[in-house]
Amino acid sequence: MSSELDIKNYFEYAKSLTLKAGEIFKCGFEGDKIVETKEYDWDLVTDYDKKIEDLLTKSLREKFPDHEFIGEETMADTKETPVLTDKPTWIIDPIDGTVNYINGNPNTCISVALAICKELVIGIIYNPIVSELYTAIKGQGAFLNDKPIKTTCNTELRKSIMEVELISLRSRVRDRDIRLGRLEAYFNITRGVRYLGSAAIGLAYVARGAVDCLQMDFLQSWDVAAGVLIVREAGGTVIATKEDEYNVMKPRTIAAANETLAMEIKQLIVDTDLKTMRKRLTKT
Ligand code: IPD
Ligand code: CA
Ligand code: CA
Ligand code: CA
Repeated sequence: MSSELDIKNYFEYAKSLTLKAGEIFKCGFEGDKIVETKEYDWDLVTDYDKKIEDLLTKSLREKFPDHEFIGEETMADTKETPVLTDKPTWIIDPIDGTVNYINGNPNTCISVALAICKELVIGIIYNPIVSELYTAIKGQGAFLNDKPIKTTCNTELRKSIMEVELISLRSRVRDRDIRLGRLEAYFNITRGVRYLGSAAIGLAYVARGAVDCLQMDFLQSWDVAAGVLIVREAGGTVIATKEDEYNVMKPRTIAAANETLAMEIKQLIVDTDLKTMRKRLTKT
């Protein structure tokens, strides 16, 4: 069992390591990099994604040899399905918003989280380009550059700015209508829709109150783990789009300032998806 003091030590070490990794991040952002395409032509990876994940994983493993790791690029190499056990497990996205990173768009970051007994206990999101470090330890609040942050108090979707996922739909043939239907609903109801191009920064923005809420599906644990804890510690709620219980390993995420707003989004999704399914039936 890890004590509070152990968790504090894990946090301090991971924080200084993430800041160090930020120097490598900046070199790649400003300089030349090798860009490869993954499964789809909109899904890219650079040599810096790999360098940063290597540094974080190797250093954390050396320091904490009995800990486990779930990292985006390691998982991509081994093609294993990530499994979260009760052991302390670091969940790492070396660069979230890789497409932004390649384009020189500063909405990109490093995301590092620790789960113990499947509970998120540490979340660190670092955007070295704008020097923003978001941190949280379970039960101790959320911080941006060491200053406490809070979600908004907004309980109404019509008064909300909402972060969504607007990633390419080119390869998403089956659920295209569902995604477009939801977007239309968000456009019609909210005060405005935003897409930063980094799920982790999107969650950090919910935590600091820069947006009121976020809804994204098809995310991976490494996209959200740190951000989910930071939102919760900033006073917000994170729930699943469909399932009853939020599962960081299968994240269909609604993050919001509070439960009322989150439940309003969930109900809107249920109603909108139903309408889309009915339209499908009348077309066939
Ligand atoms: C992506 C970003 C993006 C989200 C995608 C993720 P990556 O992560 O978080 O905002 O829309 O679903 O895959 O590949 O840049 O680490
Ligand atoms: Ca990626
Ligand atoms: Ca990511
Ligand atoms: Ca990534």
